[in-house]
Amino acid sequence: MTIYLNGHYMPIEEAKISVLDRGFILGDGVYEVIPVYSKKTFRLQSHLDRLQHSLDGIKLANPHSDTEWTVIINELVIRNSAQDQYLYLHITRGVAKRDHAFPNPSVTPTVFVMSNPLHTPPEALLQSGVGAVTAADNRWLRCDIKSIALLPNVLLRQMAVDAGCAETILIRDNEFMTEGSASNIFVVNNGTLLAPPKNNLMLPGITYDVVLELAAANDIPYEIRKIAVAEVTTADELLLTSSTKEVLAITTLNNKPVGSGKPGAMFTRLHKLYQTFKRDVMRAL
Ligand code: PDD
Repeated sequence: MTIYLNGHYMPIEEAKISVLDRGFILGDGVYEVIPVYSKKTFRLQSHLDRLQHSLDGIKLANPHSDTEWTVIINELVIRNSAQDQYLYLHITRGVAKRDHAFPNPSVTPTVFVMSNPLHTPPEALLQSGVGAVTAADNRWLRCDIKSIALLPNVLLRQMAVDAGCAETILIRDNEFMTEGSASNIFVVNNGTLLAPPKNNLMLPGITYDVVLELAAANDIPYEIRKIAVAEVTTADELLLTSSTKEVLAITTLNNKPVGSGKPGAMFTRLHKLYQTFKRDVMRAL
């Protein structure tokens, strides 16, 4: 496995960073996850735009232009053998004496990119769907920043795992749904796909965009609006989306079946549309 670290490509075993890196000490950095299908990056520009938004959010100058990022990323994709990969980009504020405030003068950011083979959910999981639990969304108020400081998300995801489930659906203020611990969540009620509006309380998912585009292009009724907790717990269907999971059905919530307890008609339709889109558009770019 070849990775990129601060201007150099190398085997992952050779990659080293300082223990004073602000990412390690303070979680002071941002990241991106980009899917690659048939060695072609998917929506690279959208991911680079979201990376810029995250960097702006933490007041860190982008260490590379989009053109430079594209060169780095394409080279890494070539140097790793899998046809389908997912890229992990990680930028921290760099190495400095420990202090919460930004280093002054500023230091060189740490830039790390790795690629792993992308294994999308296996057929058995598509057939069964996955379990989820709900929990209070106790994260900060800038969930639109793809921060490497993921401790709340880690603890929230572990709640699902401890309950034998795959994802935790997050509820703000005991009132409305935001997203999953590492995914966006859609609700289906009476044949309508419901999506929460993008704002500071959730990550603006690229897969979320694709699903809404597919819905719009295929006359699937959808609404983008605040989703009350009761609409989640009484949903006909729940779906989760992310770059690595694509579209998955959630078939149990807090140990109770969601709708029929099997992946529903909306999931089946959107999953099929997503796979067709992947074959005809993503792989053929
Ligand atoms: N996570 N919301 C959160 C909190 C996420 O961490 C993710 C993705 C998403 C979905 O975004 P996208 O469709 O652009 O992947 C929503 C990635 C996959 C991760 O942290 O590994």
